[in-house]
Amino acid sequence: QQNLLADRFGRRVNYLRVAVTDRCNFRCVYCMPEKGIRFKPATALLSAKEILRVIGLAGSLGVEKVRFTGGEPLLREDLPEILSEAAALPGIRSLHLTTNGLLLGKYLPALKKSGIHGVNISLDALQRERFRKITRRDAFQTVWENILQTLDAGIPEVKINVVALADLSESELVQFVALTQSHKVTVRFIELMPFNHETESWRTNAFTSAKRVLRLLNEHFSGLIPLEGSATEQQCFAIRDHRGKVAIIPAYTRSMCGSCSRLRLTADGKLLNCLYAESGEELRDLLRLGISDEILLRTIQKAVFSKPKNGMLAQPHDSGKQTCMTEIGG
Ligand code: GTP
Ligand code: 5AD
Ligand code: SF4
Repeated sequence: QQNLLADRFGRRVNYLRVAVTDRCNFRCVYCMPEKGIRFKPATALLSAKEILRVIGLAGSLGVEKVRFTGGEPLLREDLPEILSEAAALPGIRSLHLTTNGLLLGKYLPALKKSGIHGVNISLDALQRERFRKITRRDAFQTVWENILQTLDAGIPEVKINVVALADLSESELVQFVALTQSHKVTVRFIELMPFNHETESWRTNAFTSAKRVLRLLNEHFSGLIPLEGSATEQQCFAIRDHRGKVAIIPAYTRSMCGSCSRLRLTADGKLLNCLYAESGEELRDLLRLGISDEILLRTIQKAVFSKPKNGMLAQPHDSGKQTCMTEIGG
């Protein structure tokens, strides 16, 4: 199929990240404050029908991969319907989900049925107390059991996202990597990004670098075999005799803009051409005004065309940007 989503710098967009809600059932310290968050009213969020229309149009222009994010996407009870209808749209080849895992047990059968290709699950700690401190919820056991169930469910690609916080100890890091021994899972260590400056973690020096993670990996595992990872996984390794993989996402210290193939749809229907974009095309209003496919297609192409060359440079990390990751959909 032809890709009609080219930008000014020779990049092509084929990956759409769709945030389906800004709400979450966790309150991770690096993401949201415990209280006082102004979530969007239900009417501000796109309906399933509106989301599917955008995915369908994007599919007809060359988008092949769709990842559902949030907030916590499984808080949308209509997500299974969205997934199974999205799977049938022309051009769409694979569906993915990024979740905190709390509700995975409940939704796993429906996810399987929709033919989902990949599930990325956030898990920042392997100890109940540290997990509780980071997420502000005492939910380690449930998330852990749901991860084990997901690994057993035969979903082709399961990844565990670990935000590498400064207090991630050497022994915990080794335990994380040990999960790849018997499970076909990719464990990914992510550098903390300073989204939402108000959150405690950035102010309190919770950051630890990809460099430190790599050094620890090399110290503890002798058989690291470099592999080609996904776009965000700038360092990805197989480990001798392990079934899974380990990867590092240097989200803060490196830019992946040069090979970016992404477009984002926020829960309230803004089309963003960059993680760092300040604004985007307001698709929701167009959808609700009954605008033609023709104009919507043109609007999507326009958003891609104006993708910044390097959004990370254009929006320096320390510029005081207040946006929360959940408003953008990670
Ligand atoms: P794959 O499709 O498996 O490559 O997933 P992903 O890594 O893109 O998605 P996921 O939702 O699991 O996000 C993991 C981390 O990637 C996030 O915490 C972000 O730090 C980072 N990330 C996601 N999208 C972008 C992006 O466009 N730019 C940058 N710099 N980082 C991103
Ligand atoms: N920095 C890095 N990763 C983050 N995530 C959320 N906020 C941040 C941040 N400030 C992660 C979540 C999830 C993924 C989508 O993004 O832990 O795994
Ligand atoms: Fe929820 Fe993810 Fe933010 Fe944690 S990081 S509060 S799980 S949206």
